[in-house]
Amino acid sequence: MASVSRDHILFRFSCLLLLIGSSHSLRDTLLHGQQLKHGQELVSANGVFRLGFFSSAFTEKSYVGIWYNKSPHEKPVWVANRNTPIFNNSGILALHGNLKILQSGGDPIVLTSVRGARKTSATLLDSGNFVLHEHNLEGSIKQVLWQSFDHPTDTILPGMKLGNDHKTGINRSLTSWRSDRSPASGSFTLCMDLINGTTQFVIWWNGNIHWTTKLPELSLNEDYKFRYISSENETYLSYSLNKDISKIFPMLTLSASGDLLDHDNYSVVSCANIPFYASSGCVQHMLPECRISHNSFVHQMGFMSREGLIFSENDNLSLADCEAKCTSDCSCVAYASKDIDGTGCEYWSSKSSFKESTLDGWRDVYILESKEWTWWRWVMIFIGGTLLKFLLCTPYFIWKRSKAKEKWKAKEKCERKGHHKFSSTSYLPIIGFFR
Ligand SMILES: *[C@@H]1O[C@H](CO)[C@@H](O)[C@H](O)[C@H]1NC(C)=O
Ligand SMILES: *[C@@H]1O[C@H](CO)[C@@H](O)[C@H](O)[C@H]1NC(C)=O
Ligand SMILES: *[C@@H]1O[C@H](CO)[C@@H](O)[C@H](O)[C@H]1NC(C)=O
Ligand SMILES: *[C@@H]1O[C@H](CO)[C@@H](O)[C@H](O)[C@H]1NC(C)=O
Ligand SMILES: *[C@@H]1O[C@H](CO)[C@@H](O)[C@H](O)[C@H]1NC(C)=O
Ligand SMILES: *[C@@H]1O[C@H](CO)[C@@H](O)[C@H](O)[C@H]1NC(C)=O
Repeated sequence: MASVSRDHILFRFSCLLLLIGSSHSLRDTLLHGQQLKHGQELVSANGVFRLGFFSSAFTEKSYVGIWYNKSPHEKPVWVANRNTPIFNNSGILALHGNLKILQSGGDPIVLTSVRGARKTSATLLDSGNFVLHEHNLEGSIKQVLWQSFDHPTDTILPGMKLGNDHKTGINRSLTSWRSDRSPASGSFTLCMDLINGTTQFVIWWNGNIHWTTKLPELSLNEDYKFRYISSENETYLSYSLNKDISKIFPMLTLSASGDLLDHDNYSVVSCANIPFYASSGCVQHMLPECRISHNSFVHQMGFMSREGLIFSENDNLSLADCEAKCTSDCSCVAYASKDIDGTGCEYWSSKSSFKESTLDGWRDVYILESKEWTWWRWVMIFIGGTLLKFLLCTPYFIWKRSKAKEKWKAKEKCERKGHHKFSSTSYLPIIGFFR
């Protein structure tokens, strides 16, 4: 009897622990004065999104980001401090009126700069929006002071607006990551703009129009329901899905190479690899004479010689910029990212040499595909293939042929003897093959 009640108490106690544990790990709100350390997370009420610190696997840099909680995608849908990373895991997200990232040995990074707000809380919603609320003295919510949906990174989620709020002056646009490995601002921006007197959707590439479409013309697969609103107060585009977003993780992302991708990485808008040709909505760029006949670069893994290095740029360029720069310089035959996180550029002339390898320290190199080489390659493949077929098949046919000869001889013998044991049609196909 005593043991039963003790078990009962133990059970209740562990339930309580579980409850405390889950309410702690599932909390969606940072209250005034609270902190979120590197390694801790906020999870939205129904567990659709989570927020926390992440570190680049290639650099020591760390950032505050938001992800779909259960998505296999590792890439965050929002990054708070893309251009002001913390250089180790000492970061702490703190709320004292404003949201700040504190770091040891460095100045705090202020994420929201709301003046005069006294009592605030920050909640991660199931829409993926991280909202800073101001509270009345008795605790009720007074107003929204700031929200992450007003400051998109490279991804637009269902319910987010892309466009302008004429009253607050907020202009929501997407800017690509600098590379798949670096969330820093890249070279492509997607925004709503006034082009030739009409409001259009534009992808800018370093100040030039890369792609453009008139708003009603944007069409995706039928899952996406687009809404374009233009009123005295705001002009924006947003979308919704008639599916459960906690299962299919919808998003539209402006990739580092300037494509607009959906959640399956399907290209909704792509001028990739053909930025110099006009395709639907893609703007044609001028191509130098030397590149008109061939300007395709093939991806190879290995090492480039230091010899023949024309130029190395350590700045904020993305791989798409490297390709464009190499393409416009007739002496350039190869390019690569300078840094391991896929940023910066290096270019090589024909004096350089390339060694294919996946040994330690190899890099992704993009080499101009020369026409002659392509021609020779096809000839070599053809000759090589024919030779191989010949070498492999000859012994077989010789063997078959000798068998067939034996059979012929046997048959002749049989026929002479008046026996019809073998049907001549059974080995005709082999002979037919040899003709
Ligand atoms: C993090 O880096 C800063 C310098 O950027 C340094 O002062 C601090 O000690 C480091 N903290 C940890 C925990 O490594
Ligand atoms: C919105 O921002 C983008 C990029 O920052 C800019 O090109 C565009 O002109 C802005 N639109 C308006 C209406 O201010
Ligand atoms: C890259 O740097 C140049 C010069 O420092 C600047 O003009 C340009 O806006 C920067 N681009 C991005 C995408 O940050
Ligand atoms: C804007 O108009 C000019 C002149 O008609 C035209 O050359 C240009 O292609 C137009 N730009 C866009 C993005 O439609
Ligand atoms: C614009 O904002 C004003 C004030 O908030 C509101 O009264 C009005 O209905 C809004 N107009 C539209 C078209 O939503
Ligand atoms: C989409 O591409 C990213 C980066 O290339 C990759 O990490 C992710 O797994 C891909 N997702 C799907 C659904 O293919």
